[in-house]
Amino acid sequence: MAFNKICYIVALGLLLPFSYAHTDFFTSIGHMTDLINTEKDLVVSLKDYIKAEESKLEQIKKWAEKLDQLTDTATKDPEGFLGHPVNAFKLMKRLNTEWGELENLVLKDMSDGFISNMTIQRQFFPNDEDQTGAAKALLRLQDTYNLDTDTLSRGNLPGVKHKSFLTAEDCFELGKIAYTEADYYHTELWMEQALKQLDEGEVSSADKVYILDYLSYAVYQQGDLSKAVMLTKRLLELDPEHQRANGNMKYFEYIMAKDKEANKSSTESEDQAEKETEVKKKDYLPERRKYEMLCRGEGLKMTPRRQKRLFCRYYDGNRNPRYILGPVKQEDEWDKPRIVRFLDIISDEEIETVKELAKPRLSRATVHDPETGKLTTAHYRVSKSAWLSGYESPVVSRINTRIQDLTGLDVSTAEELQVANYGVGGQYEPHFDFGRKDEPDAFKELGTGNRIATWLFYMSDVSAGGATVFPEVGASVWPKKGTAVFWYNLFPSGEGDYSTRHAACPVLVGNKWVSNKWLHERGQEFRRPCTLSELE
Ligand code: OGA
Ligand code: FE2
Repeated sequence: MAFNKICYIVALGLLLPFSYAHTDFFTSIGHMTDLINTEKDLVVSLKDYIKAEESKLEQIKKWAEKLDQLTDTATKDPEGFLGHPVNAFKLMKRLNTEWGELENLVLKDMSDGFISNMTIQRQFFPNDEDQTGAAKALLRLQDTYNLDTDTLSRGNLPGVKHKSFLTAEDCFELGKIAYTEADYYHTELWMEQALKQLDEGEVSSADKVYILDYLSYAVYQQGDLSKAVMLTKRLLELDPEHQRANGNMKYFEYIMAKDKEANKSSTESEDQAEKETEVKKKDYLPERRKYEMLCRGEGLKMTPRRQKRLFCRYYDGNRNPRYILGPVKQEDEWDKPRIVRFLDIISDEEIETVKELAKPRLSRATVHDPETGKLTTAHYRVSKSAWLSGYESPVVSRINTRIQDLTGLDVSTAEELQVANYGVGGQYEPHFDFGRKDEPDAFKELGTGNRIATWLFYMSDVSAGGATVFPEVGASVWPKKGTAVFWYNLFPSGEGDYSTRHAACPVLVGNKWVSNKWLHERGQEFRRPCTLSELE
């Protein structure tokens, strides 16, 4: 499983500066806001075109009305009409020049401005990959947050400001994307939702026959033969000549007959085996399930006894002169591994500066593929990130110093400040920040040893979802703008602390900005001396 690998990031910004032309829109809100503005411009341009077209039609209409009256009178008494020399002259003029002018007007293309605008903008539009990416993000959210298909389709999500719903056609589209991924579970959910909305009378161009075709296949793939038959029957009522459905029907009947035969001779031991696997399924919680539960805030809660030992305090960075007079607020988030949160530790102005510096450089975050040794994008890490150096801005430098003062660790050997933006559905599945033993080359290029500790700033609130969770120990840390969390990834012995395995939950509603600093072993020899034991 991909998310079982250790994933770490190398300073991509240093290796491939600005080399991305098209940048996976769906992975970050930052880039999508540009699209909203582009769309707004296009609407203005489209309205200009409509106005021009309307005024053209208006002129044509007037001409038609005038001519209508005139020809009416003329046809009633042609000779009398033409007996007037002015009428004779005007008829010549109209036929020789005016109708020609009208023809030109009718042929005149008013769409030039709009079309050229559109052509330019379309170069920067999302492509199929973006659309599929956004759809898959929706399906991922549905799983992680246990969202009922109908709730999602009606847009009833917690914390939403702009309610939006899916049409039957949208649901059909989602089902088709799931289908092309061979994800029949979601195909069934979404095709069924499309059908339900049509049955409820929604006016749509979505076709029930098509939907039933996909739906029955997805249901069959999941082993529910009798439901597949029922759906195929429904399809055949709508379209009795449907070739595939007729073929499937015969096939389903054949299989059902065969199953009945086999069932007669089935033994009790099979039932027993089935029961056993069911029990196993119930007790066994794979990491993915724990991760998703924690994301929903359903994780293991700490016992009250343990919770009582978590405190909050004013912290002066171990008598650091910069913090003696103005200590900072510090809270214990978790005991083992120890995770502390600093409150009001980065100001709104600093956050804005960091975001503005990062925005033009955001590119799809990558992970290190241990097999090929190369950086690649991965479905388990969906966000955009950029790296900021202390040299380029006094704000970044000030932030680095703050981290050094409050952790007591040398930041000169740390990686640059990483800024990450998660759009809706953006996530980072469970991983370790440190390099493991079987990956001795993990941070070789940096020459500063392993990632001893992680400092993570929350630079935005998140309307729903987006927690940082630790599935090994059952901790969920919720984003809160202006705060930061800190933990050690390594024991003082230098051994990796496997309980620090953590993940960034998918954003359900809103947008998540974080920045992190990975501190390294070198330089900490006297600040955090090594010991032989893992227990300290
Ligand atoms: C990371 C990470 C957590 C978060 O980037 O390594 O674990 O909540 N981020 O963004
Ligand atoms: Fe991490």
